[in-house]
Amino acid sequence: MSNVGKEWLRRARSRRTIVALVAAAIAAGSAQPLAAGGGTSRGGAGEAAPAQRRQAPFDAQQRPPGDPQVVARGQALYGIHCRGCHGIDLRGGDLGGPNLLRSQIVLRDRAGERIWPVLRDGQSTPGGSSMPPQALSEADARAVAVYMHSVLARATPQGGPPRGPELDLNIVVGNAAAGREYFAANCASCHSATGDLAGIAARIPEPMTLQNTWVRGHRRGAARPPVAVTVTLASGARVAGTLVRLDDFIVALTTADGLRRSFSRRGGVPRVDIDDPLARHTELLGLYTDENIHDVTAYLVTLQ
Ligand code: HEC
Ligand code: HEC
Repeated sequence: MSNVGKEWLRRARSRRTIVALVAAAIAAGSAQPLAAGGGTSRGGAGEAAPAQRRQAPFDAQQRPPGDPQVVARGQALYGIHCRGCHGIDLRGGDLGGPNLLRSQIVLRDRAGERIWPVLRDGQSTPGGSSMPPQALSEADARAVAVYMHSVLARATPQGGPPRGPELDLNIVVGNAAAGREYFAANCASCHSATGDLAGIAARIPEPMTLQNTWVRGHRRGAARPPVAVTVTLASGARVAGTLVRLDDFIVALTTADGLRRSFSRRGGVPRVDIDDPLARHTELLGLYTDENIHDVTAYLVTLQ
């Protein structure tokens, strides 16, 4: 049978599961289950169940902290024997060793029993990389394992290294006078330091948040001002409202009386005119230099 045929058959076999899953989803989301009695929901809920199965935490995440002296010895040994290839933070190094924070061998290891054989015998992937046997005693190898687990216990998700101490970044590094000039030239047509933006730095005391807010044009999580849209149909009729969605194929809007309307688009028909109050903010994004952003933030911080 051709590959295409096999693929079709495979899909056809799995289709029953899909139908069942869809039916289960419909039944779960609807007051009157559409699938009831339809015969398609055979085993529905049962087949959807695996999604709820939880994976047990890795061994590396359950162990008690290692003895600090062993950790220190392991760290020194790691620095001598492993760091060149696996990196200072176990994320992989210049000499081609892989990231050990994601290694299944390390994650599943309890006390060196999986790591030790790899070090003793070396390891290689046919046609890929290889690690020569390491000249360590078993006791030393176990100390290195204890050290690696101490790093892993503090690792961040997706194989990231432990977080360092919290940095308190001062982002107010610009020139407030230059920022004031930039504001006068680029922002004052819509905003005023004594009007709508008076006291903005008191309202948004955290400079990073203030910067993100002025660059974006609205606070994170806050509703952005609505975008007005006018759709002109082929007949010449116009429908105006607040934009809900716009892509190459569809434009959807809510009219003033709360009706949701949508129109399919093909080429330039129907015509769509957009009036976005934040359009200038979006345009400016492509024009700011880092310096402009620092200067404007430094200026806005003075508007207490
Ligand atoms: C010369 C470079 C080099 C040195 C030195 C080295 N490694 Fe490796 N290591 C590698 C490479 C390359 C691999 C991947 C081998 C493969 O493709 O299977 C590897 C694989 C591993 C693995 C298995 C990872 C996995 O999930 O398959 C562990 C564990 C490991 N190294 C630990 C160590 C420790 C601990 C040391 C120090 C005692 C060390 N390595 C020293 C290059 C090195
Ligand atoms: C063409 C008009 C226009 C220009 C130019 C413009 N903005 Fe805005 N800006 C707006 C609109 C509209 C909003 C949204 C106001 C709202 O949500 O009520 C906004 C929002 C903001 C906000 C958020 C206000 C708040 O209280 O959450 C800040 C801060 C801001 N702009 C700063 C700037 C700065 C700085 C510049 C120049 C670099 C600039 N804007 C340029 C129109 C403009």
